[in-house]
Amino acid sequence: QNSLLGLKGMGREEIESILSRASHWERQEQKVQPVLAGRFVANMFFENSTRTRFSFEVAEKRLGAEVLNFSAAASSVQKGESIYDTVRTLESMGIDAGIIRLKPAGVLQELAERIQVPLINAGDGNNEHPTQALLDLYTMRQQFGQLAGLRVSIIGDIKHSRVARSNYWGLKQLGAKVSFCAPDNMREHELDVPYVGIDEALQADVVMMLRVQLERHEGGMIRSAEEYREQYGLTAERAARLAPHAIIMHPAPVNRDVEIDGDLVEHPQSRIFPQMQNGVPVRMAVIERALRG
Ligand code: CP
Repeated sequence: QNSLLGLKGMGREEIESILSRASHWERQEQKVQPVLAGRFVANMFFENSTRTRFSFEVAEKRLGAEVLNFSAAASSVQKGESIYDTVRTLESMGIDAGIIRLKPAGVLQELAERIQVPLINAGDGNNEHPTQALLDLYTMRQQFGQLAGLRVSIIGDIKHSRVARSNYWGLKQLGAKVSFCAPDNMREHELDVPYVGIDEALQADVVMMLRVQLERHEGGMIRSAEEYREQYGLTAERAARLAPHAIIMHPAPVNRDVEIDGDLVEHPQSRIFPQMQNGVPVRMAVIERALRG
């Protein structure tokens, strides 16, 4: 089965094949091409989402699939039903693939071993968010043509970031040079990436800001939003020091005026909304890969 659980372990050729297919879908003028007519895809979100959930739904509808939307808040999860029993229930009803977002890390692999239909990871805890990273790679490739040698700084809450992890695996395969920049209490040290100060981080081709994930923090990690902004935020003053060719990225949702000044979200060097736009063709490519190989 063509599940997509993470970018860790995915080879360069496979990543490039997904990006090329996304480019094919982006070029199509006809919005709906029903190559998945008669196939059923369930979007199973056990954690909140706007971009990922809706861009998967748009992608599925553009491919002509039948779409089922599962929301944990309105389901028997509220009566204590487990994630496995929920997914198994939908599988027993005949879905052909499942898009799944989970709060805990480390559950998805085991789930995928017990479920027969392909599963696509739409974000699992702080582990991986592979389709976000693929759309980020796609956005960088759109801007720079190729990623080999590209200097990418990922700045912010690395410790809680599945986006940073998936980007690391993908960028490494494509030959980019990754640096992390984070306060001590937002660092993780499993990945072989150097930490640099904020001034050095700004000297990159791509400056990727991360959301401070207030919902995943135990108390005390951030003393104040203003202090975080002063030390690690992309302020207008810092943005003015970026190279003219550099681009600003952020997976969103954005905490405006915390990790990035509100006025920079639609700055000419920002690619934040193009990232969201690119999410649709990239997810079309991923769903097609899951269901058609
Ligand atoms: N970037 C991202 O995953 O956004 P959502 O949480 O809104 O899906």
